Amino acid sequence: MMKKTVAGILVAGGILTLSPAAEKYDTRAFRIVTKLCTPCHGTPFYMAKQLDGDDWAYFFDNEKKLMAIHKNKPKGIASLKNKLFQNHKKRLKKFFIKSSKDSGAVHGCDANFCGTRH
Ligand code: HEC
Repeated sequence: MMKKTVAGILVAGGILTLSPAAEKYDTRAFRIVTKLCTPCHGTPFYMAKQLDGDDWAYFFDNEKKLMAIHKNKPKGIASLKNKLFQNHKKRLKKFFIKSSKDSGAVHGCDANFCGTRH
């Protein structure tokens, strides 16, 4: 009786510690960026690596500036006005900062992404 309970706790603990390790980045943010930004900016991780974390914070906190940069790119403006972008700005900002040039993050292969292809 007692033994079973202990084993159950150990198994549950193992699953809990495994799952966050399997997903080291926000895959939802990854997919949104792939859809809205990748056609011009390359894969999400490649794109993130073009700027320092501070720069990403700056652009996300100064949306007018971001719009101005894209003013001659109607598709870019459309992406920035897209509901997916508008509704998930916070997590996208976090995603870019976590994968930025100065973050030291290096991503290997998984179902979404493999290597540095862009
Ligand atoms: C239609 C093409 C296009 C799309 C789509 C697009 N961009 Fe851009 N973006 C550009 C161009 C062109 C520049 C200016 C590059 C330059 O002048 O160096 C730019 C510049 C930027 C910059 C300024 C820093 C830099 O790299 O020059 C940021 C930040 C940025 N884009 C974010 C985004 C985000 C976030 C999305 C998706 C929501 C997005 N862009 C979608 C074309 C696009």
